[in-house]
Amino acid sequence: MTPKCWRSVPFLLLLSITSVFASSQSFENTAIVRTIELGGSLVHVTTTFAIRALEDGLKTYTIAFGREEKEKSSWLEAKVKGQQERLEVKELPFDGSKDHHLIEVVLPKTLSLNKTLNLVLESIQTHATYPYPASVGQNEEQALKYHTDLFVLSPYATSVQRTKIKSRTPRVISYTTPQDIEPFMKESAVTKTGATVVYGPYDNIPPSTSSSFIPKYQQPVVIHYFHDQPVIELLDLKRSVEISHWGANLNTEDKITLHNAGPQLKGHFSRLDHQTQAYYKRVAPHVLPAMTLHLPSGIRNAYYYDLIGNVSTSRLRVAPSVPKDKQGTQFSVLDLRPRYPLLGGWNYTFTLGWDAPLQDSASYDRSTGRYIVEVPIMTPILGAVINQEELTVILPEGATDVQFVAPFPGAADALIGTHTTYLDTTGRPKLTFHYKDLTVKQAESIFVSYKVSWAAHLKKPVAVGTAFFSLFSLGMIARRMNLTLHQKKVS
Ligand SMILES: *[C@@H]1O[C@H](CO)[C@@H](O)[C@H](O)[C@H]1NC(C)=O
Ligand SMILES: *[C@@H]1O[C@H](CO)[C@@H](O)[C@H](O)[C@H]1NC(C)=O
Ligand SMILES: *[C@@H]1O[C@H](CO)[C@@H](O)[C@H](O)[C@H]1NC(C)=O
Ligand SMILES: *[C@@H]1O[C@H](CO)[C@@H](O)[C@H](O)[C@H]1NC(C)=O
Repeated sequence: MTPKCWRSVPFLLLLSITSVFASSQSFENTAIVRTIELGGSLVHVTTTFAIRALEDGLKTYTIAFGREEKEKSSWLEAKVKGQQERLEVKELPFDGSKDHHLIEVVLPKTLSLNKTLNLVLESIQTHATYPYPASVGQNEEQALKYHTDLFVLSPYATSVQRTKIKSRTPRVISYTTPQDIEPFMKESAVTKTGATVVYGPYDNIPPSTSSSFIPKYQQPVVIHYFHDQPVIELLDLKRSVEISHWGANLNTEDKITLHNAGPQLKGHFSRLDHQTQAYYKRVAPHVLPAMTLHLPSGIRNAYYYDLIGNVSTSRLRVAPSVPKDKQGTQFSVLDLRPRYPLLGGWNYTFTLGWDAPLQDSASYDRSTGRYIVEVPIMTPILGAVINQEELTVILPEGATDVQFVAPFPGAADALIGTHTTYLDTTGRPKLTFHYKDLTVKQAESIFVSYKVSWAAHLKKPVAVGTAFFSLFSLGMIARRMNLTLHQKKVS
């Protein structure tokens, strides 16, 4: 099986061995603006680099990441400001003696001397916040802490840079005042306006990846803020997608372990307090009573159960089936209400599944004789991180020549195996993918393609036919035996 590329993989983290380190003189940053949008499980960081070429013929621009920042970033993407096309991104080999990582962005066209460009680097950090205090009472508020580095590092000199840290509400409890940065300061080191804390502007910063800059000036800043939404993690998602040509059906089943990563509940849970709060619509922000999920349109036989059984308090509004090219424009809306409200530190394990018409996500290419099926990696849950996922795609019996295209790496460790169910004669090929720390940005699809011969198509009806025939024969035999016994008795 060879994974084939139907479209270019947009975000590639490649270890290029023969990389040349950027010389500090090839660019200057006329301005760097970093905006950090604080959240719970996810923190969204957008950094704009206004760059100017100091040489002719520049093809790549180098971005530096502090070690911790790199570890926290689960997704990143570089674009030219105002354009849609994602630029190719390559990770340079990590130098263990340095405290930063370098990432190379391939520019859309070669830059010549004095030409300028605005690059936008977007990233999502996961597990970057923690509750502080670590435990609160059921009716109390929830506050989180977030750490970052004061300066955006760069191998090039920077004329001016600033960092804006935005909270969802203006209720920021505290923030760090930087120390010993007078050489770069104009007025104040930090200001707060409403929900935004601004570090900078800081002027005339030398190339900051140097060994002299980091120990002297780089420093952590900590923001402590109230957060008005539960901090949700999916500790584990096991999605199993089963393609059936015989029933023209696509079955999706998710086994989910949900976790509230907010502050731990201090003392006991009181359902009465919770109901009173719910009545006054004042449920504390660290309590998760329900979630809204957008499932595909045209689904049927949806089910939702936990360890105890059916959960009947959830409601599903099914949107009618739409053709393939309009997929994603309409959703069935599931108001998912766990059996109990999920408090800080608590887990809730449940299973959610549905059937969908196969033609809504499959197509047949007559020229190659291949079926192509689109398999979504996840159902996005706003603001949540999926710590780990195992995605299994079970293909029809007799599928051969299996190929797939995955939107980003992580799927590279796909395994092919077989899955055997009742009435399968030879077992069904299956693909397994493993992922870590997925965010809503990765709510994309894997495309699986395969061939099924006519003989294989017929196999299942034959298998079913054989089963019926066997039962029928058994019945006949039993009846005859009874008859014989009966007759014996009579005689
Ligand atoms: C590039 O810009 C510098 C500084 O503004 C200027 O002195 C120089 O003449 C420019 N060079 C070209 C080729 O435009
Ligand atoms: C669960 O609910 C569905 C739909 O309401 C029903 O068809 C099914 O029999 C129920 N299952 C159990 C185990 O109660
Ligand atoms: C939630 O699940 C995690 C991982 O399985 C476990 O470590 C933790 O103890 C669980 N929490 C509770 C309250 O059961
Ligand atoms: C066997 O025959 C008896 C007498 O006719 C009948 O009552 C019984 O239901 C039969 N059993 C089966 C398994 O068909």
